[in-house]
Amino acid sequence: MNAQIVSGTSNRILARAIATTQGFPLVPTQVERFPDGEIRPLVGDVRGEDVYVVQPTGRAVHDHLIELLLLLDACRRSGAERITAVVPYFGYARQDRRSRAGEPVGARVMTDALVAAGAERLIVVDPHSSALEAMCAVPVEMLTAVPTLADALMSMAIPDDAVLVAPDLGAVKLVEHYASLLQRSVAVIRKTRTGGTTVHAEDPIGDVDGRPSVIVDDMISCGGTIEEAVRVLLARGAVPDFVVVATHGLLVGTTADRLARLPIRRLLVTDTVSQEPMPALPLQVRSVAALLAEAIGWLHRDEPLDDLLMRT
Ligand code: R5P
Repeated sequence: MNAQIVSGTSNRILARAIATTQGFPLVPTQVERFPDGEIRPLVGDVRGEDVYVVQPTGRAVHDHLIELLLLLDACRRSGAERITAVVPYFGYARQDRRSRAGEPVGARVMTDALVAAGAERLIVVDPHSSALEAMCAVPVEMLTAVPTLADALMSMAIPDDAVLVAPDLGAVKLVEHYASLLQRSVAVIRKTRTGGTTVHAEDPIGDVDGRPSVIVDDMISCGGTIEEAVRVLLARGAVPDFVVVATHGLLVGTTADRLARLPIRRLLVTDTVSQEPMPALPLQVRSVAALLAEAIGWLHRDEPLDDLLMRT
């Protein structure tokens, strides 16, 4: 049984890079679309193979999710020996609990659907919530891009007095991971979401006055979290020269314009979702292809992934 990569259309560049890095064959795959919008993938020969279907579920979330489900089903019906869904950015991970009556647990619905379609294992990168593992009926390997991004920060010569800032309480574990690699102090902001694109932040906890800040998050969607973090940091005397780092740069809609108005020197993200050029932003993209390729190699050989996993 050989390891083979099947790529959906969500991030073909990343899938190709994963395949090239470790010399895995990329299975010829086509994705047709019917006039009414239905998607019909056609996967090459995967019979008896250890198949890794690479498909982050960033924009357009639902198209990419449905395509992933259909690819998994196609692999199963074609006789693949083992099927792993590689979902570097896992959409719906933020819906990991009901915050009020009437809401679904979206993350659970999505993991159930992937398993029903044929996924025997999931690989994700820095999911919004580690609860994903508990709610999924098959093993979930939660990799982290933090060492990759911390390495990029080191080559930027972040000053010794820079503060690593968690823009909400959910980012505390993440910021602690960066702090352990970069040996910098930490500040934390309390945030309340007030709408889909708006949040309210309170005074940071920690010493930020007169110091440069590196704001650390798992993802940037509409940019409201970063905008509010910058506002309260400036109000507390932070140096107006920010570095922002996040694993998943969704940067939806007009986020680039929103962030371009802020004193951000560098915006560092990975390619878990495909990145378009954004001339308005000082964007730097680090690839997670080597991380994913290494993880796939180890899983294929049934070796443990400990060093690559997220801290929970
Ligand atoms: C939420 O808790 C996440 O960790 C991010 O802070 C959030 O999803 C970012 O979204 P936005 O960029 O829309 O504020």
